[in-house]
Amino acid sequence: MLDERMRPRRNRKNEVIRSWHRETWLAPQHFVYPVFVHDRAAVEPIKSMPGQSRMGLEALKKEVEGAMSEGVKSIVLFPAIDDKLKTSDGKESYNSAGLVPRFIRALKKEFPELVICTDVALDPYSSDGHDGIVRDGRILNDETVEVLCMQALAQADAGADVIAPSDMMDGRIGAIRDALDEHGYSEVSILSYTAKYASAFYGPFRDALDSAPKFGDKKTYQMDPANAREAKREAELDEAEGADILMVKPAGAYLDIIRDLREESSLPIAAYQVSGEYAMIKAACQNGWLDEDRVVLESLTAIRRAGADVIFTYFARQAARLLRG
Ligand code: PBG
Repeated sequence: MLDERMRPRRNRKNEVIRSWHRETWLAPQHFVYPVFVHDRAAVEPIKSMPGQSRMGLEALKKEVEGAMSEGVKSIVLFPAIDDKLKTSDGKESYNSAGLVPRFIRALKKEFPELVICTDVALDPYSSDGHDGIVRDGRILNDETVEVLCMQALAQADAGADVIAPSDMMDGRIGAIRDALDEHGYSEVSILSYTAKYASAFYGPFRDALDSAPKFGDKKTYQMDPANAREAKREAELDEAEGADILMVKPAGAYLDIIRDLREESSLPIAAYQVSGEYAMIKAACQNGWLDEDRVVLESLTAIRRAGADVIFTYFARQAARLLRG
């Protein structure tokens, strides 16, 4: 029965009053913009990610300039590597003259205040399409970590601000921290993909980089979508090994994990709204089935509400423009 005195709707009666007690804020400063790069001048649209493209250096500079002017001052680089440079040992990943180090140097020259994050994992460079080195159908852990350290060093040497290992090998955070410190990069941050799930939501990303596994799947290193406790264990290890920021990925279907890590750790928490989340929203909106402006902001607000500080999102620029009004 209605208690005549209890009317929660009074606190929602107009926008001014609603804004008194709004708990969650979104601003361009919360976004990291993932960009796909390649070694060609052409801008190649990615079919399954409307609005996103593979870019060469000149197009990328324009994109970064636009993003910065909208208040998005952080990017993460994902390289589409030529097939002939892909090998089973992924050695192009630590070529200091490779695509990623070259682009970092060029961007840093032009945009000194841009924060550049880099992905550490072998999949874009691996002829097997796996994040680690493969032998007899197995993904080798410790041998992979050695290569990841060299990859991180090449990125740090080029000027990366934040190294983001997405490979899910055991022990890589500590090993990369030691390698960076030994080489004088103690100021370079590590943002760990701590709870990265073996998710079908990465499909469009693998199209974008042509990086899908050539055999099997990633379930021996990425986490089981059914599990939450395992995320806490990964968080404890990453924190002990010296991670600066912990990430949950994907975001939208894993809001409980974001909340768990927020409660478990005092480190900043990042979340990655991945390619499949982006593609679903875009596809529905292109069909006129959802209101794009509202859905974009709602999806990001929910990720922040769950406890994420920073969000990696392909909507970074679009959302920044919407927030500006
Ligand atoms: C590579 C990597 C992946 C993503 C980010 N880094 C793909 C994968 O693990 O298969 C996915 C990002 C996205 O779907 O937007 N290790």
